[in-house]
Amino acid sequence: MKFKNNTVFDCAIVDMSKVHTVSGNITVLENGDNIPFDVKRVYYLYDVPAGEARGGHAHYELEQYIVAASGSFDVILNDGTNKKTFTLNRPHLALYIVPGLWRELNNFSSGSICMVLASNDYDETDYIRDYNDFIKEKLGYNEHKSKKIH
Ligand code: TYD
Repeated sequence: MKFKNNTVFDCAIVDMSKVHTVSGNITVLENGDNIPFDVKRVYYLYDVPAGEARGGHAHYELEQYIVAASGSFDVILNDGTNKKTFTLNRPHLALYIVPGLWRELNNFSSGSICMVLASNDYDETDYIRDYNDFIKEKLGYNEHKSKKIH
């Protein structure tokens, strides 16, 4: 499989907006409305121990919306040339992640919940979990961008 020629600049924090009432807020995500792919799977990370990092992989095809349903954390995206850190700290904000990017998540606040909406079923063959392999495949595809990053 080949990595998509995407960069961190194809990712952005999206405001999903909220329905505010005196008794609390609701945020709605609906296929075909305010999300650019059809959601096939939802999962969430919680009880992440202090100082722990998650992620550490890239996907060939999977698109994701990542939401801090509670608390806050950082998502660091890396396209082999550029690195960008997004802080998620409001339940009505989602980070749209395109395929082909290395990602790490860290700085989880106590009690935080990282909810992920994904465009496909869980498929281990869609993952690349070795950073050196990622760089080799990504920069092989993007030879003109073979600048070292850190
Ligand atoms: P992983 O994707 O590596 O988690 P993270 O990126 O948050 O660090 O998944 C951790 C474990 O959970 C791994 O053994 C695979 C399993 N898993 C599933 O079985 N189904 C899923 O949908 C996901 C996301 C993970």
